[in-house]
Amino acid sequence: MKFERPRGTRDFSPVEMAERACVEGGIADVVEGFGYARVETPMFEHAELFELKSGGDVSDKMYVFEDKGGRRVCLRPEVTAQVARMFASSLKVFPKPLRLYYAGPMFRYERPQKGRYRQFWQIGVELLGAQGSLADAEVIQLACECLESIGLEYELKVNSLGVLRGLMDELSVDSARQARVLGLIDKGDFAGARGLVGDTLLADIVGLRGSSRVLGEAGKMLEGYGKPVKALKEIEETAGILDALNVSYVIDFSVARGLEYYTGMVFEAGIEGLGAQKQVCGGGRYDNLIGLFGGPDTPAVGFAFGFDRLMEAARLQGIELKHDKKSVLVVPVNEQLTTEAARLAGELRRGLRGSGVSVMVELTGRKLSKSLTYASEAGLDYTVIVGDKELAEKKVVVKDLREGRQETVEVGKLGGFLL
Ligand code: HAM
Repeated sequence: MKFERPRGTRDFSPVEMAERACVEGGIADVVEGFGYARVETPMFEHAELFELKSGGDVSDKMYVFEDKGGRRVCLRPEVTAQVARMFASSLKVFPKPLRLYYAGPMFRYERPQKGRYRQFWQIGVELLGAQGSLADAEVIQLACECLESIGLEYELKVNSLGVLRGLMDELSVDSARQARVLGLIDKGDFAGARGLVGDTLLADIVGLRGSSRVLGEAGKMLEGYGKPVKALKEIEETAGILDALNVSYVIDFSVARGLEYYTGMVFEAGIEGLGAQKQVCGGGRYDNLIGLFGGPDTPAVGFAFGFDRLMEAARLQGIELKHDKKSVLVVPVNEQLTTEAARLAGELRRGLRGSGVSVMVELTGRKLSKSLTYASEAGLDYTVIVGDKELAEKKVVVKDLREGRQETVEVGKLGGFLL
């Protein structure tokens, strides 16, 4: 019987996994450097958690099923709602602000295409319990530093949903219609959005894009409208901090995001060349979600990278994803030395634990030349050849497969030599 992978899923080879680990490790280093601590949430949840506020764009795409106990559960389509749930129930007692991050698979029943999968990976951060522009700027700066640490070229777009929502409040657009309008803007259907609002001002604002100068233009257009002007002041402050932190960005009032829980600043990073799915990162402020989940009213802001898209972008931009882990094959020259080789490999492994060097032992009893061919074809770094003559002098021959050199090394100094 032959099986195919389910649509929208992928297998990853050891080579791909090594590259993914390299990028994930690099991002983890950066976010931990900002003081974010890793959390883990369940792969499935009560479907309602996401239905409440994540918005149709996400909840319509959920894998929902009834478990054997008759509960309506779903595979998680994202993690922000889970972190808000976790904060509302158990993390609220922690000193704030709380900086958290997560990495793992998400599930959305989408039409699969390049860069869009049904199982995909995100790495995200959530900053809980901090209000204001400095917190907004911190998460934007963090996203940029992650992208730069990989070596990626990208474009960052920042907006304030506070401006768009504030204006719609003043134009008496109710919250259900606001969600639909933002959904249309998110999809680039500005005419549809204008039709729903019945006022051209929103469409004019949404058309603004450029350096922080456009904030002044928006200010003039919004004169006399209290709420959106207040939100504009906040985004101006964030822009000022980003300038001081040397973060490059464009203000783009058409960034509406596909999720419903955002209340203020929103941002996205895109990478040219990825095609229709070029957005590699999205996030923003969501100050009402924790309260909605029964927790204390807590301001929050965060973002998530589409990890698979980052990998594709790195490939596209020719970024070499190498890790500095080394691998060694210990090979006995004859059958009598098999146990000795296994013993030596064990000793080496113990001595090198934590250094990132992996030590394997030849298992097949094949000829030395065949073992060496295997080691170089498998991309290993060294072979340690265990022979009678050398062993009598407590030595082994080490062949450096990358450089093509070999050297006789004392067994006692072998670990240090391989590092
Ligand atoms: P999101 O925009 O839905 O936001 O997803 C974040 C990123 O995940 C996207 O920018 C994209 O790169 C990637 N992504 C989404 N769907 C797919 C897919 N089907 N295949 C491949 N990649 C995909 C969120 O999920 C929010 N929870 C982000 C956030 C965190 N906001 C505040 N905190």
